[in-house]
Amino acid sequence: MGRTGIIGAMEEEIALLKEKMDIEVVVKKASMEFYQGTLNGREVVLVRSGIGKVNAGLCAQILVDVFNVSRLINTGIAGSLKAEIDIGDIVISSDALQHDMDARSFGYARGEIPRMGTLSFPADQTLIGMAKEACEEANPDIHVFVGRVVTGDQFVAERSVKEEIASWTEGYCTEMEGAAIAQAAYLNRIPFVIIRAISDKADDSASMDYPTFEQQAIAHTVKLVERFIARIPEKDF
Ligand code: ADE
Repeated sequence: MGRTGIIGAMEEEIALLKEKMDIEVVVKKASMEFYQGTLNGREVVLVRSGIGKVNAGLCAQILVDVFNVSRLINTGIAGSLKAEIDIGDIVISSDALQHDMDARSFGYARGEIPRMGTLSFPADQTLIGMAKEACEEANPDIHVFVGRVVTGDQFVAERSVKEEIASWTEGYCTEMEGAAIAQAAYLNRIPFVIIRAISDKADDSASMDYPTFEQQAIAHTVKLVERFIARIPEKDF
């Protein structure tokens, strides 16, 4: 069984998972604490990356280089980009792209990273399936969507900004780390999936909704990630 790297941006997002883990060692690198041990009998390394794409990309690479992880899971909360996706619902990534990447002046599509030949990074189909099943088991009353996660170094909290991002990305939710982790996974040729619970609607009420619903949203992802990890086969797939 290969090790699974689990990344959350904020302490709140990893605290409950940390409690449920049997921690064997804690390694500090790049000002991040990596908790290595087991969760539901599976080998994992859990880490708080810090917020934003640079922190997330760095963190993912350390998980690959130092801990030799076989897959990357990014969990946490996000702002909804679709009317039908409500606070508390879950979005599992079909793929991820950076909404703040823009080299259109050189003829690239908006969001496309120059010279990488890809606009968005597709998540792993097996991991998506496992996340869906885990979610149906952990949170049968919660709506689960599989769709594009869009990432930028920006907390989206204005209707006009949300609508603009949603219009061209066709994203389901917006957050600040997922696509960086997806890109690191792609470059290292390992599978990834992003699992996010909605804490706000990325509009003018986002900064008020966020603190109100943060804990509830996190609780949803924690239950899901725990069950997800238990679905990883003893032997690598
Ligand atoms: N994470 C949670 N809500 C968010 C939002 N509205 N924008 C960016 N990241 C978020």
